Amino acid sequence: MDTQKIRSDFPVLSKKWNGKYPIYLDNACMTLKPRQVIAAMDEYYYEYPVCGGRSLHRMAKIVDEKITSSREKFQRFLGAKQHEEIIFTKNTTEGLNLVANSLDLKKGDMVLTTDKEHNSNLIPWQVQAEKKGISHVVVPSAPDNTFDIDKFESLINKNVRLVSMVHTANLDGYTIPAEEIIKIAHDHGALVMLDGAQSAPHKPVDVKALDVDFFALSVHKMLGPTGMGVLYGKHQLLEAMAPFIVGGDTVSDSTYQSAKFLPSPEKFEAGLQNYAGIIGSGIAVDYIENVGRLEIEKHEEKLNTIITNGIKNIPGLKIIGPQEPGSRGGIISFTVEFPKGGDAHDIAIVLDETANIAVRSGAFCVHSWFNNRKCEAAVRASVYLYNTEDEARKFVDALGKTIGLFA
Ligand code: ALA
Repeated sequence: MDTQKIRSDFPVLSKKWNGKYPIYLDNACMTLKPRQVIAAMDEYYYEYPVCGGRSLHRMAKIVDEKITSSREKFQRFLGAKQHEEIIFTKNTTEGLNLVANSLDLKKGDMVLTTDKEHNSNLIPWQVQAEKKGISHVVVPSAPDNTFDIDKFESLINKNVRLVSMVHTANLDGYTIPAEEIIKIAHDHGALVMLDGAQSAPHKPVDVKALDVDFFALSVHKMLGPTGMGVLYGKHQLLEAMAPFIVGGDTVSDSTYQSAKFLPSPEKFEAGLQNYAGIIGSGIAVDYIENVGRLEIEKHEEKLNTIITNGIKNIPGLKIIGPQEPGSRGGIISFTVEFPKGGDAHDIAIVLDETANIAVRSGAFCVHSWFNNRKCEAAVRASVYLYNTEDEARKFVDALGKTIGLFA
């Protein structure tokens, strides 16, 4: 993998801030965008900035073709059987909410999640519990912060309609044993949805091989435009599901009293869409596939190892999740407690202002996990394909100096 060549595709990496190039380690929140993605969106706005899916003029036909091509790219990227199983959304949150609202959940149905869910795979179940009387049960992690398969097996029963879990946690980078979980869930008649926001951009994912029923991702976490996501669903399940948001282009006909819904994906993509975003998303897939997700995975593990080894013995700093870097993909989150005070946000601000290093601090939308442990916030560094070993070492060095201010 040629990191230097990759870096030259990302305009923001050659823009100095206060005389220094940025070290961007907030990739779990949002990745940077390569010029190829930006150019594809520019092309839409300059050359054919019109609607798709409706009009018969030639500019609209170009948009239609590009949308189908993007959908086919995601079909390949995720290993789906057909492109109709790919629904464009705003983000992972919207995909998860679509399933939570459209699946015919009934009173007494159970939904199982992990204890590391982002709010987007927690609040929808709390809302469905209130609305429909479902019950939401959390499977606690094992003491070493890995998935507790025995606990999961002890909690699953015939009332579980859906197992909805974060594939790779944005909290600590840990990936659950999805294949095993899906097999157990299916043996008990439950469906499985994976929040793939932090997995699909970083490692190979094959929904057919996994036999997962629904899989949601955010394209802005995989080099694509902001406000773009994808939901994969098995065709027969999508066909049986009612649409979530309804309106223009979800129906083939309507009267004052009724409507005839179109098949998937149209019935789930209401109104005019983010066409530039959909087109840019397809180009993001091309970019990642050209580099190769196995290569990206290996690269991230190397950087995670450098950072973990550099910081794991710092007094007052505790790495969240499994301790060995190989189990945490490209994510290194840690809590801090120092004699002279200074919290996670202080560390993030000092890193940014003194060393141009962008990390995230806070609860990463996993407040439930932090509240359960009576802990407020952590610092998170998250790497991607354009980060270098030199940047990983600079992060370790800058963190040491920052901590020196508080320790
Ligand atoms: N899920 C995103 C993050 O972890 C917002 O930063």
